[in-house]
Amino acid sequence: MVETIESKIEALKKDRNAVILAHNYQLGEVQDIADIVGDSLELARAAASTDADVIVFCGVLFMAETAAMLSPEKTVLLPAANAGCPMADMITADQLREMKQEHPNADVVCYVNSSAEVKAESDYCCTSSNATEVVAGIDKKKEIIFVPDKNLGGYTAQQTNRKMILWEGYCHVHTCIRDGDIVKAKQQHPNATVMVHCECSSLVREIADAVLSTSGMLKLAKEFDADEFIVGTEVGMLHRLRKENPDKKFYPATEAAVCPNMKLTTVENVLWALEGMEHKITVPNDVRVLAMKALEAMRA
Ligand code: 13P
Ligand code: SF4
Repeated sequence: MVETIESKIEALKKDRNAVILAHNYQLGEVQDIADIVGDSLELARAAASTDADVIVFCGVLFMAETAAMLSPEKTVLLPAANAGCPMADMITADQLREMKQEHPNADVVCYVNSSAEVKAESDYCCTSSNATEVVAGIDKKKEIIFVPDKNLGGYTAQQTNRKMILWEGYCHVHTCIRDGDIVKAKQQHPNATVMVHCECSSLVREIADAVLSTSGMLKLAKEFDADEFIVGTEVGMLHRLRKENPDKKFYPATEAAVCPNMKLTTVENVLWALEGMEHKITVPNDVRVLAMKALEAMRA
């Protein structure tokens, strides 16, 4: 039998008792070799519950760090060593500590797109699919600091009718989607339903039909009785939407919404990760212990 990259990955996966997790924004060919493809919350849950010894995380650093904290006994590999999330890097633990000193009675909610050190300084962690529930569960009398995404924070504040102190972070990929892009796409596809990610700007969110996480988009595409959708998120999302809904049409709000960090993982470097067992992602135990409180709140 001819050996292919895919067959080598399969064989190594068995040898190492490894599982491949891939985020919805990964390249189509990477999604296709993964055991589980999902949003941040689904992948965190999968990392915590798998009985594999090795997790190959096709995503960005904060996702692999989260997996390493939820499953400290497992080996977590990030195939693309330099795949980070610029938004997660927009706040440091020192900056968050300063913010907490200015608002000593506030509870801190951090978006999962944050470093392990920032999670360790937070009371609750959330993802785009459960931010509203997490914030709604906080005592109404409490002030809330939300970091680092001002857009997800602003959206969650609206949804829960809570006043929140927001850090000025943002995703450069989602903020490159402009309201004008949606208007133009709507002119080209007047019958399409517009769904956008919660990381988009308020102007974009206001003219969308639905504001969702990536798993929320998959659910809507499957369940909603519509044939056409305009998709306001990273373009990797279109692979799964089209694969799982072959009879429906999906149009990107803009082709420019590409996350360069999500595209650093290739099928080749998944193979190299399994061959060389690299790049191992670990989190110091003192940081992990503190961050776990926030992570437990996220997984609940
Ligand atoms: P989801 O959790 O909705 O998949 O979002 C993750 C992310 O990084 C969005 O930019
Ligand atoms: Fe970070 Fe934005 Fe890329 Fe998501 S799409 S990983 S938030 S830079």
